[in-house]
Amino acid sequence: MTDRRPFYVTTPIYYVNDIPHLGHAYTTTVCDALRRYQLLRGRESRMLTGTDEHGLKIERVAKESGKTPQAFVDAASKPFRAAWPQLDIEADDFIRTTEPRHIAWVHELWKRIAENGFLEEGSYEDWYCVGCESFKTEKELLPGNLCPIHQKPVERVKEQTYFFKLSKFEARLLEFYEKHPSFIQPETRRNEVLSFVRSGLRDLSVSRTSFSWGIPVPGDPKHVMYVWFDALSNYRSALAGRDEKGEPLSRFWPPSAEAVHIVGKDILRFHAVYWPAFLMAAGYTDAEMPTAIVAHGFLTIDGHKMSKSLRNGVDPLRLAKELGPDVLRYYLLRAISFGQDGDFDHAGIIERYNADLGKNLGNLLARTLGLCVKMTDGLVPPKGFETELEVELAARVDVDAARAMDHWSSYEPHLALEATWAISAALNQYVDRAAPWALAKQGDMARVHSTLWTLLTTLERLSICIWPAMPGKANQMRAQLGLPAIVPQVGSDLFWSTPTLEPGMKLAPGSALFPTYDEATTSELLSRLRPPESITATSMAEGATKQEKKMEKMPESAIPSTEASPLGPITYDQFSIVDLRVGVVLTCEKVPKKDRLLKLAVDLGETTPRTIIAGLALTFAPEALVGRRVIVVANLAPRDFGKGLVSHGMIMAAGPSEALVLPTIDDTVAAGTKLK
Ligand code: MSP
Repeated sequence: MTDRRPFYVTTPIYYVNDIPHLGHAYTTTVCDALRRYQLLRGRESRMLTGTDEHGLKIERVAKESGKTPQAFVDAASKPFRAAWPQLDIEADDFIRTTEPRHIAWVHELWKRIAENGFLEEGSYEDWYCVGCESFKTEKELLPGNLCPIHQKPVERVKEQTYFFKLSKFEARLLEFYEKHPSFIQPETRRNEVLSFVRSGLRDLSVSRTSFSWGIPVPGDPKHVMYVWFDALSNYRSALAGRDEKGEPLSRFWPPSAEAVHIVGKDILRFHAVYWPAFLMAAGYTDAEMPTAIVAHGFLTIDGHKMSKSLRNGVDPLRLAKELGPDVLRYYLLRAISFGQDGDFDHAGIIERYNADLGKNLGNLLARTLGLCVKMTDGLVPPKGFETELEVELAARVDVDAARAMDHWSSYEPHLALEATWAISAALNQYVDRAAPWALAKQGDMARVHSTLWTLLTTLERLSICIWPAMPGKANQMRAQLGLPAIVPQVGSDLFWSTPTLEPGMKLAPGSALFPTYDEATTSELLSRLRPPESITATSMAEGATKQEKKMEKMPESAIPSTEASPLGPITYDQFSIVDLRVGVVLTCEKVPKKDRLLKLAVDLGETTPRTIIAGLALTFAPEALVGRRVIVVANLAPRDFGKGLVSHGMIMAAGPSEALVLPTIDDTVAAGTKLK
């Protein structure tokens, strides 16, 4: 039975101390695909994303960048808002936790919880990981008091606080999980949460007094709210008020809607334990809890752990530009088993592209349209009549389309796409078996027509099935079939609908939907896409020696490795002459009339910041660098760029001038620290 309730899907809100990376892109793409699927089913659907802007972590980064926290978050939220449309992600709302609408809602939540007697003043002393913005028990810590997620030392925090009486919700939460077995997905993650709650819940400190970048506690402004109390509320604060039609947005919350939070496995506990407990404490009934919290795994890149700030150089926006957003979306949704950890493999994306998109789907469309051009003057043929072959195919397609629907509805994009591609494979088999070219030779035009009709109408169906994953390609495919772009309508189920193609309609074959890469173009593409491994200096871009410039233009693989270096090995003493230090960029601006150059003030832990002129401008907007840690060659002789511009150091970076990647270093390392 079709679910007619509105559908609400949310991404986590992203911390703005980072810029959008592939992990963020993954979750956000999944949410967009789920939203699109529900739209196709005729459901009113809403997707929310946004940025998490308060807390100690953000306050510290803002301070390092020499900005006020507000100015910092205003700038740092922008790349997130700008990123998603480039991946064809159409969130309906983008919330920032510094917005008044959010703050007002969080105040109300706090007040309701306080009135219900679930907040209590006290003091505590505990371990805190600023990276997680979370308290840690001694049991959880790794030797050396390291956070198991960030592998960084936790901090001892001691202060006055308001405690949220989480312990009072242990039994109710367990009962709720029991009654709603699909609340936490997948099953393995559910079990982890159950055993965490069963092992006993401690009351939770939900306010801080040792810093001020947060939402003030109503009536006690020396406290700011714990960042997770603030952040989790975004899912409801974004539904305060009305939409452009004047309808209340609260209709997107249970019980009148299905509300799904898609999160990474690292933040499941906050969503599956704290968030429902906060809502329960504020008086929400079980029917008003989110429908499901669905946790996905972590992505690695070419087998390596991926971490923040594009550390291993994989920029989803760059990938989308090179390959097209649809190809990136397809790969993320199909190749990573949702719920499990998965590897983003640069070679794998091209293999899948060639096989699934080029040879399977793209070729099928081209072949079918080619046959129509030859045999029916490029028009949709008459329906003809069905044989066993068509009946068998229709049954298979129905089974696979129903399978895809089931998997989309249970938030399993990889399986939904597997089922969708089974339709394409069945169609490829069908065309080989029906062999319309042989039928034409026999002069059996009625069979030719029914074969082509079957192919075209099933391709129309496929164009709808692929739309959640590849909206752009789906519409290009439809254009070649002579069909209009998909415009979902509330109340009408497009996913399970009869074809709209009619005999006599004009087809519009165009260029290949997915032109495949051969060996040479694959390796050329890979050398551009893979994160560069060799470190080059940014000022190579300006004033580099001839040899350096020549090397810069070479593909990665052609740059000699250290072993083959014409300089030969160097001794430790020779290496130690180079003074490499950690710097923090305080200000950064463009150099007038010099496209490639940026002028930076970099804190190297000295009494005054260094002025450094660096060839970073083709890759970075000045504001993107403010607050970043960089590696600086600190004892390079000053270099005069003319017109009073003198550089007092060199910033290290890797890759070509238009796609430079900065080597990164943990936020805990102080400015001026020497690399050895
Ligand atoms: N601000 C909190 C979320 C608050 S939601 C009320 C936060 N932000 S985050 O920016 O650090 O992480 C956002 C999401 O990105 C998390 O779901 C996290 O799991 C996900 N990812 C971060 N790195 C990732 C990978 N390498 N792979 C997949 N997702 C990862 O936590």
